[in-house]
Amino acid sequence: MNEGVRVEAAAARIVPALRDMVRDLDLTTDELMAFVAWLGDVAASGELVLLSDVLGISRMVDDQTHAGAGGTASNVLGPFYVAGAPWIGNPGSIVRTEDDGDAITVRGCVTDAATGAPLDGAIVDVWHANSAGAYSNEDSTVGRWHLRGRQIAAADGSYSIDTVRPLHYTVKHDGPVGRLLETLGRHPWRPAHVHLMVTAAGYAPLVTQVYVANTPYLDDDTIGGVKPELVASVADGSLRFDIALAPEKAALAAAAG
Ligand code: DHB
Ligand code: FE
Repeated sequence: MNEGVRVEAAAARIVPALRDMVRDLDLTTDELMAFVAWLGDVAASGELVLLSDVLGISRMVDDQTHAGAGGTASNVLGPFYVAGAPWIGNPGSIVRTEDDGDAITVRGCVTDAATGAPLDGAIVDVWHANSAGAYSNEDSTVGRWHLRGRQIAAADGSYSIDTVRPLHYTVKHDGPVGRLLETLGRHPWRPAHVHLMVTAAGYAPLVTQVYVANTPYLDDDTIGGVKPELVASVADGSLRFDIALAPEKAALAAAAG
């Protein structure tokens, strides 16, 4: 375990809570063994983060990590980010395999959250599911970088990325976390969204998502990721999303002397 991870404080909360549950529900050996086998299956299936996602814990921790950061709200990274996406021009397209969905342009301005000044040279890294709700990592019929790319903001801070409108999407639900959702009577859907990772020298990196207004599951995201300020409408073929970056803590400290 890393130093600075509050293992003792967490254990002091988790252990009594679990013991209370075991006592209150009068759990049996069979039930304990079934739970242990299921949790082992979650780990063996690589679904521990997915479990944290569907329990709403990933969203909470992301909020807590960025509380008071200023600028555009953050959102969870999700499992489908791939570093090193190809550079595209500005404007540019990330449609690399034919997709007969609705053409849209994701566009907006990247600015300094404190001053509103445009951030010439900010890097906008985007990725999202296609018009059938699949990420390129999940669909062997499309290229690795389909619907993924990096773009450099123009002198006025503008970015403009031609793509297709993503569809709502199910998290992985063919394994032990899917069995949990089914047992709880919950669905596995996430609303349509576009992921963005935005960086600029001297600013705190922003990982967020923009959600498409008036689409299914916005009010019932299975990972509880939606924030009202991250919902944007498609108008005249554009999904407009402005991004404000907060100065890096180190930059703020230096400015304060
Ligand atoms: C998950 C999937 C996503 O597309 C996302 O944005 C966040 C989480 C998931 O499978 O848990
Ligand atoms: Fe996603």
